[in-house]
Amino acid sequence: MLVARNVTKNYSNLPVLKGVDISVSKGEIVTIVGSSGAGKSTLLHILGTLDAPSGGEIFINDVQTSHLQGDALADFRNRHIGFIFQFHHLLPEFSALENVCIPGFIAGTRKSEVRERAIYLLETLGLKDRMEHRPTQLSGGEQQRVAVARALINKPDVVMADEPTGNLDSQNAKELHQLFLQLRDQLGQTFIIVTHNEELATLSDRQLVMKDGRIVA
Ligand SMILES: Nc1ncnc2c1ncn2[C@@H]1O[C@H](COP(=O)(O)OP(=O)(O)O)[C@@H](O)[C@H]1O
Ligand SMILES: [Mg+2]
Repeated sequence: MLVARNVTKNYSNLPVLKGVDISVSKGEIVTIVGSSGAGKSTLLHILGTLDAPSGGEIFINDVQTSHLQGDALADFRNRHIGFIFQFHHLLPEFSALENVCIPGFIAGTRKSEVRERAIYLLETLGLKDRMEHRPTQLSGGEQQRVAVARALINKPDVVMADEPTGNLDSQNAKELHQLFLQLRDQLGQTFIIVTHNEELATLSDRQLVMKDGRIVA
């Protein structure tokens, strides 16, 4: 469902990605590991259309994303890609439920339908009794599960996560890993996850190792 060919990225004259090829199938959990500065976040941002490559091509379900611009690009990203970051980036003045609904409202889906799906996702993620809480009233693990629900609200083709357990203790990290596996098995959800967590990398379907702007294994 995702194909990237010969993706390069330069910042000024500094080459950060030096020709990356990736293909990811539906329902696959692919992890990207590698030392700090290898280019993992840069690659994930480019695959997620948050940043543009200097060269190469990227297709998500046959749409060449580098050909999209402006509103069309923002709309594509909103509908087809979910994001989870190391820090949850939930909006503090909104409840968990509202945070999950917002990308659905932006997509223009009927409000009642968005709300229903948000409730279903929060229940599935074990947050039935936390829906009306604000982010500061939730634990770190709960906040990150709300961020997962938000990433899933528009039924994205792929969820991209950058160090999603980097800020969690080992028990909460374990639970989040199990959740990713459950979402793959139950919904056929595709994930591309940058991680330093060996356990998550081992649990995933495929591990890519990045070094110095290239995938080396
Ligand atoms: N916006 C930027 N401008 C200049 N250099 C950048 C920028 N973003 C990342 N880099 C550089 O690109 C390299 C890869 O960074 P990054 O993708 O964040 O690595 P990783 O996520 O693997 O730690 C680093 O050398 C970093 O300093
Ligand atoms: Mg990074």
